[in-house]
Amino acid sequence: MDEDKTADELEIVEDKQETRKEPSQPKPLAPSELAEAAEKILKENNCGNYTMPSRELYPHQWLWDSCFTAIGLRHLDVERAKMELTSLCRGQWHNGMLPNIIFRDENHYRREREAWRSWISPNSPDNVATSGITQPPMLAEAVVRVGEKLALPERRGWYKLMWPTLIAHHSWIYNERDPHQEGLALLIHPWEVGLDNTPPWISELHQHLLPGWIRLVQKLRLDIIINLFRRDGRSVPIDERFNTIEVLALYDVQRRLKRKAYDIDKILDHSLFAIEDLTFNCILIRANENLRKISKTLREQIPSDLDKAMRKTGEELEKLWDPYSNQYYSRDFITHNLIKEPSIAALMPLYAGSISKERAEILVRMLENENQFGPAYPVPSVPVSSPWFNPRHYWQGPAWVNTNWLIIDGLKRYGFSEHADALTETTLEMVAKSGFPEYFDPITGERLGAHDFAWTAALTIDLLQNK
Ligand code: GLC
Repeated sequence: MDEDKTADELEIVEDKQETRKEPSQPKPLAPSELAEAAEKILKENNCGNYTMPSRELYPHQWLWDSCFTAIGLRHLDVERAKMELTSLCRGQWHNGMLPNIIFRDENHYRREREAWRSWISPNSPDNVATSGITQPPMLAEAVVRVGEKLALPERRGWYKLMWPTLIAHHSWIYNERDPHQEGLALLIHPWEVGLDNTPPWISELHQHLLPGWIRLVQKLRLDIIINLFRRDGRSVPIDERFNTIEVLALYDVQRRLKRKAYDIDKILDHSLFAIEDLTFNCILIRANENLRKISKTLREQIPSDLDKAMRKTGEELEKLWDPYSNQYYSRDFITHNLIKEPSIAALMPLYAGSISKERAEILVRMLENENQFGPAYPVPSVPVSSPWFNPRHYWQGPAWVNTNWLIIDGLKRYGFSEHADALTETTLEMVAKSGFPEYFDPITGERLGAHDFAWTAALTIDLLQNK
């Protein structure tokens, strides 16, 4: 086995006694206790200039986590919400990329920084270690939401401060990730969409990307042994996460990106794995709209190349519609085939806001259907009827508060206010029942994954405010 892998996810746990005991479910909270409990988590996870997603599992700063966290924090402390976002700027690469992770600089985390070695790229920021890939562009939304809390002169100042970062980031997305100028951005690793083991990506992984040595591990069933040593298994039961073969394959992809020093031309030259991801592009469409809003308030022009590129994305999204199954999918960048594995991404065009009301209605039907996205505690990350569906398995079944928030927002935009209110209610019920975990069993509402998760707490605060 390769030393990079043992260094990261598969860190050897010498004392096997450390493996985790199943936690009991917490005492339910009364609706009136929710806001205070959420605030407490945001206080405990605060580490100065940003909020840790989870103290036990995710100590670094993640891009879309900080955006969701700022959306909640703005109701408690606007200055802290601003800092949550400005601290993302320190990780911006010289080419404009915002990385999905900015690493802490304590010695203790050396191995995690080394796993990426961002400094091997001439584009990486000075004196800050980051990953070499991105995450959905939620920043423009978060900047606008924080701006809503400010009077116009302060809002202008705030937008002015964030403008260069946003323009550089959106320009990078189109320059590097839309090489044929078609309008859709491509991703090179599932960690970039943040729905790490979502079926469209994992099915592609199994079809094209398992290198020989991983197939051998699979054949000899060595994954059973490796399972015992997985570091994430210390805080979360292993059956709720990626299976070990997939973890190995994803680190293998990451290592290939590193070998090419995160140079997109070199990566795409021999790429096996490039997907025009539906969720990412829906968020991009909305981010572009928010960027236009900011530009109007500032009376600043969006650079003309970027402006032209941005116009295409909404239109191009329609090419991801499949008339046979009546839904949108992600698309393989190389073959241009739709990847027809249903997942929560199917509902994200509601958030994009660029689709017709008729299409939006079709998506709402899917949300209502209890065999698809409508179990007791929606919204499952995979439709209940899918062969992938497993209510406890990370992004292959559990409900997550951030995707609920995006869907609620989209429902409101299309005028489905009753649906939006109902989903807000069930989301808050789920949190009241099980606290603020990373994700929830969509059938029973039980808590799963890491505990005291920042975006679950922050977005609960936002949902409570909007009720
Ligand atoms: C998990 C999630 C990802 C999130 C990260 C940090 O990897 O899949 O979306 O950003 O944790 O919370």
